[in-house]
Amino acid sequence: MEQALVVENLRKCYGKFEALHGITFDVAPGEIFALIGPNGAGKTTTLRIVATILQPTSGTAAVYGFNVQKDAARIREIISYLPEEAGAYKNLTGRQYLKFMAELFAPDMQVQREYIERASQITGLGERLSDKIGTYSKGMTRKLLLSRAVMTKPRLAIIDEPTSGLDVVAAIDIRDSIRRAASEGMAVLLSSHNMLEIEYLSDRVAVIDNGTIHDIGTPQGLKEKYGKSNLEEVFVEVVRR
Ligand SMILES: Nc1ncnc2c1ncn2[C@@H]1O[C@H](COP(=O)(O)OP(=O)(O)OP(=O)(O)O)[C@@H](O)[C@H]1O
Ligand SMILES: [Mg+2]
Repeated sequence: MEQALVVENLRKCYGKFEALHGITFDVAPGEIFALIGPNGAGKTTTLRIVATILQPTSGTAAVYGFNVQKDAARIREIISYLPEEAGAYKNLTGRQYLKFMAELFAPDMQVQREYIERASQITGLGERLSDKIGTYSKGMTRKLLLSRAVMTKPRLAIIDEPTSGLDVVAAIDIRDSIRRAASEGMAVLLSSHNMLEIEYLSDRVAVIDNGTIHDIGTPQGLKEKYGKSNLEEVFVEVVRR
């Protein structure tokens, strides 16, 4: 089966600074794949290249066979990208925002309604969808944005720090939403510096530090390989070797 994402020997320089030193990984359809590593590791840089927002310095990334440099327009039709610091229009209600986004993505009214229905359920916001986004807490806004990112059933969802700044309950809700969407075949590329949290969400993780991927595996496989009880301890061990 064709891979949802193939990244090969990807390098990225910002001026003289090399942020990615040639990283390689792939993501299968329906798979939730996470880049885990500390601040400045190169996670957002990688996600932005896959989302066709940044150009790689060398190496390749291909989304369902489409090259990020040659076929960017095609890729944008089949992905969604949720940046870490995304905001929403504070003067719209949650429901108005979802409607606006649905209209942007689908010309057909029936499809728009399906999108809004799916997204509304994913947000778990219930009655609060009638309130202005400006009155939402950080976690509520994040849930709304996340629901927008998956409502169109993109073939690859790219989500930067899906649960950052959320409480445990909101983080679990968001995890469940991502899981449900992936079980319908959507591939997901995540990033997180919260290694404990991401363990429960991801099918496989890549341990990234200083622009280099040090190891890739299932959370369970990595814990067994390094004889550790959680991914944070795995990270320390992997990076030290
Ligand atoms: N536009 C830029 N210009 C110069 N350097 C940059 C730029 N963007 C990122 N960098 C550098 O590249 C490295 C990787 O940054 P990146 O944002 O990809 O890290 P990250 O893993 O997402 O970190 P965080 O967990 O803090 O979000 C860092 O050293 C950062 O300072
Ligand atoms: Mg980042």
